[in-house]
Amino acid sequence: MNGQLIPTPDTIPVAWGWFQFLLLLTFPIHLLFMNAMMGSAGIAAFQHFKGGEANRKLAHFLAVFLPLLIAFTVNFGVAPLLFAQVLYGQFIYTSSILMGVFWILIIPILILAYFGAYLYDFRFEKLGKTGGWIISIVFVLFIIIAYFFTNNMLMMTLPDTFSAYFRHMNGTLLVSGHATFLPRYFHMIVGAIAVGGLYTALIGRLKAKSDPKLAAYAEAVGMKVFNSFTLISIVFGIWFLISQPKPVMMLFMSKNVLATAIFIPALILVPLMLVFSFRKKVIATTVVLTVLVFLMTFMRAFVRAGYLAKYFNLGRLKMVPEYSPMILFFVSLAGGLVVLVWMIRKAWQALQA
Ligand code: HEM
Repeated sequence: MNGQLIPTPDTIPVAWGWFQFLLLLTFPIHLLFMNAMMGSAGIAAFQHFKGGEANRKLAHFLAVFLPLLIAFTVNFGVAPLLFAQVLYGQFIYTSSILMGVFWILIIPILILAYFGAYLYDFRFEKLGKTGGWIISIVFVLFIIIAYFFTNNMLMMTLPDTFSAYFRHMNGTLLVSGHATFLPRYFHMIVGAIAVGGLYTALIGRLKAKSDPKLAAYAEAVGMKVFNSFTLISIVFGIWFLISQPKPVMMLFMSKNVLATAIFIPALILVPLMLVFSFRKKVIATTVVLTVLVFLMTFMRAFVRAGYLAKYFNLGRLKMVPEYSPMILFFVSLAGGLVVLVWMIRKAWQALQA
């Protein structure tokens, strides 16, 4: 029955490894921007309500970058969405339709959050205390969007739930009751706040010359948030791992050599990162964290493959060779990257001025 509810996959124009490579390259970038966006919104809200000159100054400083972070999060979300659809279209389209009402709701919620972020930035002084409520609402909207994303990314790996459509034909199916949902969602949210802290410490450095007091305060607050939320995130990470069905968990405990080879360095990097972060070594922490986020998304790809193993593996995708679109893609990607670097340099110069 459930097997019949999975549509036949489309053919792919080049070997699946190319799409997997691009998915695993772009998704961690989406996550890093999403974390900076969500985390800094939460920190700005907290600092705003705490009040006082230093806290409000820090909140305002974070507000200036927030619309930019939303743009980067969304744009770096489009790429993995396209690659995930090419590789897992028969699952992700189905789950997106089953939760269609919530899935489509992401767009108006995101527009509202974007509007709130601009309002908070442009009217910071005028808004006074109301600004604190606005940025809090923006933060909550991000958390709601993440809730829908976690639902879809989990549901797509659970074709057994697809038949629930016959009991919920109105596009409101969710999988929040699944044993792995809460640890997965909390791990994402708490991790995002932690990374938001590190990002705060990092961008505070932009003010090292013009406002050293703000730079030092941003680093102190940011690293405190990073340390505490990372410790909580580790607890959720362990819960997430042990909540997995045994065959999936065993992939990381030697059943799959590559999965285990990724899991072990990730395990070693966590305490190393904590040593750096507790010593307030912001750059070293950022480097290790970036590597860790990449490794964890690779692990997540194994989890997805493990869940779907009963029905599908990527090797079963039929390839009908057609190389020119991929070549065109790489050429436009290179052009886009050049423009992006130019834009960042211009923005950087403007910020320093
Ligand atoms: C701006 C608000 C957004 C937030 C807070 C957010 C948050 C998240 C979170 C928490 C996940 C992980 C879900 C999980 O696996 O448990 C995720 C995954 C993902 N997001 Fe976003 N996201 C946002 C916007 C977007 C947008 C606008 C797109 C696409 C246009 C996008 C594309 C993706 C994709 C494709 C994945 C999954 C990739 C994969 O499973 O390989 N995101 N997002």
